[in-house]
Amino acid sequence: MMNLTEHDKKWVEQTTGKLKSKLHAVTERTSGKIPYTTEDGVFDDRSGKSEIAWWTNGFWGGMMWQMYSLTKEDLYRKAAVDSEEKLDAVLLDAAGLDHDNGFRWLPTAVANFRLTKDQQSYNRGIIAANNLAGRFNLAGRFIRAWNDWGEDDHRGWAIIDCMMNLPLLYWASEVTGDPRFRQIAVAHADTARKYFVRGDGSVNHIVEFDPFSGEMIRSYGGQGCGVGSSWTRGQSWGLYGFVLSYIHTKDERYLDTSRRIAHYFISNIPESGLIPVDFRQPIDCSWEDSTAAAIAACGLLELAKYTEGRDSRLYLDTALKLLKALDEKRCCWDMNIDNLLEKCTAAYHDKEHEFSIIYGDYYFIEAVLKLSGEELFIW
Ligand code: GLY
Repeated sequence: MMNLTEHDKKWVEQTTGKLKSKLHAVTERTSGKIPYTTEDGVFDDRSGKSEIAWWTNGFWGGMMWQMYSLTKEDLYRKAAVDSEEKLDAVLLDAAGLDHDNGFRWLPTAVANFRLTKDQQSYNRGIIAANNLAGRFNLAGRFIRAWNDWGEDDHRGWAIIDCMMNLPLLYWASEVTGDPRFRQIAVAHADTARKYFVRGDGSVNHIVEFDPFSGEMIRSYGGQGCGVGSSWTRGQSWGLYGFVLSYIHTKDERYLDTSRRIAHYFISNIPESGLIPVDFRQPIDCSWEDSTAAAIAACGLLELAKYTEGRDSRLYLDTALKLLKALDEKRCCWDMNIDNLLEKCTAAYHDKEHEFSIIYGDYYFIEAVLKLSGEELFIW
């Protein structure tokens, strides 16, 4: 348990209890699926042939491992292993693999390996890490993000989200003793510090480099509202991703970078504690992204552990503010509805906004379990 007041301890215990009840019921009726969102309150299924490579397909397994580690109930372990096995189809599909290998295999195969030392899970994690390392561009010292889509050329594209995939490389170096994976992670993190993090602590979503010379060409607004804007989930990926690089390397520069992003994020949180899609979206736009709040809370709770005094307290209190706002206003505790978080948004310019998204649920659970000291460390 983190250093919480009696009142906050009670909130954590009550919320953990609600998570246990809801997840048990939802997991029983979600057998065999890998959900992304809900349709009329029922989880969809992305485990079919055409959607199995979808980048979010590790989060359901991650939820299952967190709940298994908390309760030791076998239904969670079985569901987690099932989703890990289904993802094997992606390991044999070059076009399905990309920089999001970390999001797919850290919460599934690597989590399984950490808990059970299963050799097949180890193999999956190492294959995914090798593929991720193979995306490193030596001239620009960055990990290429996406594959090409149709005519679009992404050879020089890197995105802030990739900071969350680096832990797959840190893990691979740790278990193999081979420093190459970690060297690549550190090189990418250094490039991201230089080209993604702006003077005010906000971050770019996409930066394009010349894939041959490695020079920076331009930044893009990506899933935020435009160039120079401040897509909130990107800020959260940066905040959490840099503190994770600090945890794995103990390089203070990454801790400082995470703190800079955190202070920018904190200064932009609305009174309500509910997070918009972009901190620079038009003033009359009210679209929210609850995932950004849950991910930022996870990063802030890690910062609270590795800092002292007033700043540590600020990170903890802000994480609590974000999580309580979600619990009270954006969590669906109805046992007949599958999703937990509401009002999640994938991208500002998408046609649809404010629906349920599985990684919002995942990070909300992770954050609550960090507070109670019962989290399974995934990253
Ligand atoms: N990694 C893509 C996203 O955060 O939507």
